[in-house]
Amino acid sequence: MKREHQRSSPRAIRHRRRSRSPHMTMRDQDCVRFLQWALPRLRLRWAGFRRVRRQLCKRIGRRLRDMKLTDTNAYAAFLEAHPGEWSHLDGLCRVTISRFYRDRAVFDHLRRAVLPKLARPDPSGAIRRVRCWSAGCASGEEPYTLAAVWECALRGRFPLTVLRIIATDADARMLARARVGIFAAGSLRDLPAAWIVHSFDHSGNRYVVRPPLRRLITFRRQDLRRARPAGPLDLVLCRNLAFTYFDDGLQREVLAHITRRVRPGGALVIGSHERLPAGAAGFVSWEPHLGIYRRTGAG
Ligand SMILES: C[S@@+](CC[C@H](N)C(=O)[O-])C[C@H]1O[C@@H](n2cnc3c(N)ncnc32)[C@H](O)[C@@H]1O
Repeated sequence: MKREHQRSSPRAIRHRRRSRSPHMTMRDQDCVRFLQWALPRLRLRWAGFRRVRRQLCKRIGRRLRDMKLTDTNAYAAFLEAHPGEWSHLDGLCRVTISRFYRDRAVFDHLRRAVLPKLARPDPSGAIRRVRCWSAGCASGEEPYTLAAVWECALRGRFPLTVLRIIATDADARMLARARVGIFAAGSLRDLPAAWIVHSFDHSGNRYVVRPPLRRLITFRRQDLRRARPAGPLDLVLCRNLAFTYFDDGLQREVLAHITRRVRPGGALVIGSHERLPAGAAGFVSWEPHLGIYRRTGAG
């Protein structure tokens, strides 16, 4: 009786409400158990999703409702019987948050130290090419920021250097938005005002990326688990994707690819809360605390 009473106390009710998805009565612990079972099968790791699980649980709840399935056990059984459903679940597990100039100290360091080194004139007088890859580019915020850094702060200093960016993402809707290149003022709020004027046409709350920035970027749909640009590459931004959400083996595969493709002296940038897999070789820290690494070898 006492336990009954405790379970119905205001605190217990608040706890029950918090742990239930608003879209269906799926308990947090059921969703967690389901994710812990399903994510490794997609080569993803639960630890990366722990903090953002509510978003995933909401989407999965909606999927169960659409499919008229009673609970996550029924969904697991459906996945076992219908392997085609895994790719749908995979799409539900994408975290797509991004913004312009995310981790500004990183872009400031790229502008001050890394890009000038990569862009320095070729002693022979030939055109220097700086080839960049934004892996998991979301709606384009990251590659457009890099393009703005180059166009607004550096290009004039390096007339014999051409910078190009390949921007990849697995999510077709994100890429479609990236190609359209129209953003609300809110997502640009961290960019320096002068760069916004230089990089966007705007009317009302709509900011449209100008052609000089667009020309630098090729958007391509690629799942990082299966396909990657061939290279060679000078700068790779692989932030808030592989080293947060992928399982350990896959992280190592991605890093091995990057290590093969980045030329000596080139740079790798990972997310500010991410770490390279233990024992990783081929890169040394370029700027401790910012997740910027330099490819070893003569540069
Ligand atoms: C959290 S966002 C990070 C965006 C940007 N790199 C940043 O740091 O702001 C992760 C992006 O990776 C994409 N993504 C998720 N899984 C992927 C995969 N397997 N291959 C390629 N892109 C993926 C998502 O669609 C999303 O746009």
